[in-house]
Amino acid sequence: MLKIGDIEMKNQVVLAPMAGICNSAFRLTVKEFGAGLVCAEMVSDKGIVSQNDRTLDMLYIDEREKPLSLQIFGGERETLVQAAQYVDKNTNADIIDINMGCPVPKITKCDAGAKWLLDPNKIYEMVSAVVDTVEKPVTVKMRMGWDEDHIFAIENAQAVERAGGKAVALHGRTRVQMYEGIANWDIIRDVKQAVNIPVIGNGDVQTPQDAKRMLDETGVDGVMIGRAALGNPWMIYRTVKYLETGELMGEPNAREKIDVSILHLDRLIALKNEHIAVREMRKHAAWYLKGIRGNAIVRNGINECNTRDELVSLLTNFADEVEAKEQEAHQVG
Ligand SMILES: Cc1cc2nc3c(=O)[nH]c(=O)nc-3n(C[C@H](O)[C@H](O)[C@H](O)COP(=O)(O)O)c2cc1C
Repeated sequence: MLKIGDIEMKNQVVLAPMAGICNSAFRLTVKEFGAGLVCAEMVSDKGIVSQNDRTLDMLYIDEREKPLSLQIFGGERETLVQAAQYVDKNTNADIIDINMGCPVPKITKCDAGAKWLLDPNKIYEMVSAVVDTVEKPVTVKMRMGWDEDHIFAIENAQAVERAGGKAVALHGRTRVQMYEGIANWDIIRDVKQAVNIPVIGNGDVQTPQDAKRMLDETGVDGVMIGRAALGNPWMIYRTVKYLETGELMGEPNAREKIDVSILHLDRLIALKNEHIAVREMRKHAAWYLKGIRGNAIVRNGINECNTRDELVSLLTNFADEVEAKEQEAHQVG
């Protein structure tokens, strides 16, 4: 089972942190589909320290999401420590995670995100400084290295462990790879063997069977799912069930997908406001519709929607259409 510090997850399936995606509305929805642990989108340490309103809004956590891991990013010790202290004292997060994987230049040029991967000593210093000042367990999410020539995953994970970090999540790609190529699970296995703290494997888990294969092949304590859960919280539910019972549940039908997308929309509206939520929901709605035959027209229509009513009627009309077509086909058949 997955246990981080004193926090015990009810299963090994973890929702990955995803910026612009993993706010409370999405996390709670995924949690209801059975995730053992949900991770929040990364939050800027400087935004927290300067008490930026939008940043502080990102720290909102619904009690029902717990256990939850809240990720901060930064490149400087002082602000990282201050931000961690703030999260420790002022949020109901269970775990404080430090981002050492973000590959985007805006982040790495501030010595944050994946830039850390080049220097295990810095990792040790920074993680120690955070661990010493907070009560919640501290974890690190990292990529396997900066580029092919600088893969220090083992040294980096060991530095986290020595510094008092309570778990490591490892994405089996380098910074330079961004999201290209195939995630390297061998390095995940090597890291698992090199440390005594829990290791969560990440990268290219697209199906419940992939999750089982990752657990079997690498021996990790948890499996983290990112892109496969976009518009698809069923991926989490199906994975939990598959790992528990070996049973592979079917995919949801159009009506189920649309009903959950509307629940997600309503939660986003409650969290932000209708205008922002509907815009933000456009990408999610397109993901929810993925795989439903005949979705091209409605996908285009989504981008024109500005209100809840417009979006909901577009989606429910589409579900009605799909059901009518299915009934017709059934009768003909
Ligand atoms: C849209 C998007 C946003 C992401 N944001 C974050 C983030 O805020 N923090 C982080 O550590 N990783 C972030 N990631 C990386 C994911 O957590 C994960 O490591 C990566 O997608 C690989 O897992 P997957 O193959 O299951 O998607 C992001 C990925 C995506 C696609």
